[in-house]
Amino acid sequence: MSLLSHALSRIKPSATIAVSQKARDLVAQGRQVIALSSGQPDFDTPEHIKEAARRAMDRGQTKYTAVAGIPELRQAIADKFRRENGLDYAPSQTIVSTGGKQVIANAMLATVNPGDEVLVPAPYWVSYPEMVALCGGTPVYIKTAAADAFKIRPEALEAAITPRTKWFMLNSPSNPSGAAYTEAELKGLAEVLLRHPHVWIFADDIYEHLVYGDFKFVSIARAEPLLQERTLTMNGVSKAYAMTGWRIGYAAGPAALIKAMDTVQGQLTSGPCSIAQWAALAALEGPQDYIRQSRAIFEQRRNLVVSMLNQARGLRCHTPEGAFYVFPSCADLIGKVAPSGRTIATDEDFVSELLEAEGIAVVHGTAFGQGPNFRISYAASTEQLETACEGIQRFCAALRDPS
Ligand SMILES: Cc1ncc(COP(=O)(O)O)c(C=O)c1O
Repeated sequence: MSLLSHALSRIKPSATIAVSQKARDLVAQGRQVIALSSGQPDFDTPEHIKEAARRAMDRGQTKYTAVAGIPELRQAIADKFRRENGLDYAPSQTIVSTGGKQVIANAMLATVNPGDEVLVPAPYWVSYPEMVALCGGTPVYIKTAAADAFKIRPEALEAAITPRTKWFMLNSPSNPSGAAYTEAELKGLAEVLLRHPHVWIFADDIYEHLVYGDFKFVSIARAEPLLQERTLTMNGVSKAYAMTGWRIGYAAGPAALIKAMDTVQGQLTSGPCSIAQWAALAALEGPQDYIRQSRAIFEQRRNLVVSMLNQARGLRCHTPEGAFYVFPSCADLIGKVAPSGRTIATDEDFVSELLEAEGIAVVHGTAFGQGPNFRISYAASTEQLETACEGIQRFCAALRDPS
């Protein structure tokens, strides 16, 4: 009998984690590497949040908590949704989990049956299809085009819906493209969803605070309140407050769904870390200056990176509305020969030759379901970004036509 489960055979390891590991391995071998592969703010967690964690430990708040989270945090989450998103949820309609990632896993485990389809706009965050597949569901991809700013059109959504569709995953702003939907665009998608009442909406709003210029973030259940009764709105403190390692994510939705997710979570983890929950409470209720400051810095970095990439020979980079990623196309470089003498046949070849030649780690677009592109995370210092973009320009200029 095989040790490994059939479920395991349906999923693959995270490509973003794999590239980051490859970069760490090269560093261990003495190479200089700039890693633009990982999706986390390069800032430290604000001091008042760390202080709340220290206080929690000093007070002995170190025991199991209620499965769905401490009441204080669930209240703060309900308040946050009302204050920032105009969404009304009772604290009992919220749940706190070990990262936004576990919110998604709980939701999929609680609802997806073999054969159920989950609509995933591409390019997508690498974990959506894998979690769906782990639960026996079928991810159904909806392609987008750079010309549409990597956003799906209502007619594409309509065409993808079948009687088996269980969820529509909507990640705005998006990892990996940075695309964020305007209120009007959300209303366009909502019109389609209103015609298909069996489809649930998973709103992954984890990058909501990272939007630039005069872009105004709106959550889909706010854009179309009639959808709220079948929307799970997910968020978390990882990206908003530089708290990726604290592992706190949360969601709000219809009571029956939250109860089902609570049952799953109760058996899997008993609930998230008590200390991290008190820290997350301080993040949601404390001063919000960090969000404003980090947003301003990320916006400058986005502008720098987009402009430098568009000066690289053969790359085309769209300016995204949000998150801390750009998703340039390297289509014009496919078929060229790298300094190593190897031909670049795919975006995966492009990123691996770039890592070898210039020590710059980025992730190939096909890992996110769309290529030939690559994803750069600009959650790195301005100096590193400048050096990396110069390296990319040099690498692109050194590519030759095959002889
Ligand atoms: C789109 C998206 N959703 C959810 C998550 C999960 O974040 P966390 O589990 O750290 O809360 C991430 C993290 O990279 C993400 O990019």
